[in-house]
Amino acid sequence: MALHRLTQIVMGVPDVDATAAYYTDFGLTPTGGHTFATADGGEQLRVVHSERRRLGRLGVGADDPDDLDRVASSLAALDVAVERTATGVRAFDPGSEVTVEIGIAPRYEQPPTPAPPYNTPGVNARVGERAPGILRDHQVRPRKLGHVVLGSTDQAFSQRFFTDGIGFKVSDTVPGLAAFLRCSTDHHNVLVQQAPVAFLHHTSWQVDDVDEVGRGATAMLEKDPSRHVWGLGRHHVGSNFFWYLRDPAGNFSEYYSDLDCIVDDALWTPQVWEGARGLFRWGPPPPPSFLAPEDLAELMTGAHQPG
Ligand SMILES: [Fe+2]
Repeated sequence: MALHRLTQIVMGVPDVDATAAYYTDFGLTPTGGHTFATADGGEQLRVVHSERRRLGRLGVGADDPDDLDRVASSLAALDVAVERTATGVRAFDPGSEVTVEIGIAPRYEQPPTPAPPYNTPGVNARVGERAPGILRDHQVRPRKLGHVVLGSTDQAFSQRFFTDGIGFKVSDTVPGLAAFLRCSTDHHNVLVQQAPVAFLHHTSWQVDDVDEVGRGATAMLEKDPSRHVWGLGRHHVGSNFFWYLRDPAGNFSEYYSDLDCIVDDALWTPQVWEGARGLFRWGPPPPPSFLAPEDLAELMTGAHQPG
């Protein structure tokens, strides 16, 4: 049938305990062994030790063995070394330095979460009650892992690896910088951008609505204001509300809601977006460190050291 979602990521960081504490604050549920679960996606993050921060492994869920056979032969056609096991296919993208594992996984069955009633001009959908967004006091819990953004030293090849090789589709592109790729009905699950060194730019986690984006980020900043990176805003490409925070290793993590959904490929026209419009529709301007994280030079030096 098809690919249908991201499953799990393995993130390498120098200080596992500090990073694990951060993702606990972020609202992921620790399940032991530095593994973390989302509300709807089960165990989706594992934090392991690495000399420099990196995304070690990215899991992609497929429906059945036919999908695995197709991926294995498509990757082989790109001259990528493919490891085929009974339950999956594993291959390494040299551009992003990520090992991608495609395996059979159940599809998401997310309980429907209707948007809260919003009062708008001429429509009083909520009468005599305060807004749910101000009444909630539980910790924000991400529903699922939505996407990862990877720096690649060979964006063109990494894009072919994910599209021609694994079967991702292109949703939109920002020329010279990035391509938004999907393996599900989400607008994007992987974004690969050209970079001087392979690195993990950010992971992104779905929450219920814009109030949860705001509540989640506010709680993170109450604990440590230096975690702030960029938000609150709304992306143009993908349409999602966003707020980015920084983990102790330097990886950005994003709360998002209301991402574009592509169910019928024929009803979506990929577009090419230029400049800042490709980045956001409204919100504060992105800090320079969003485009070029402050530790890039350090990562480049580290990339040339053994280990
Ligand atoms: Fe994102």
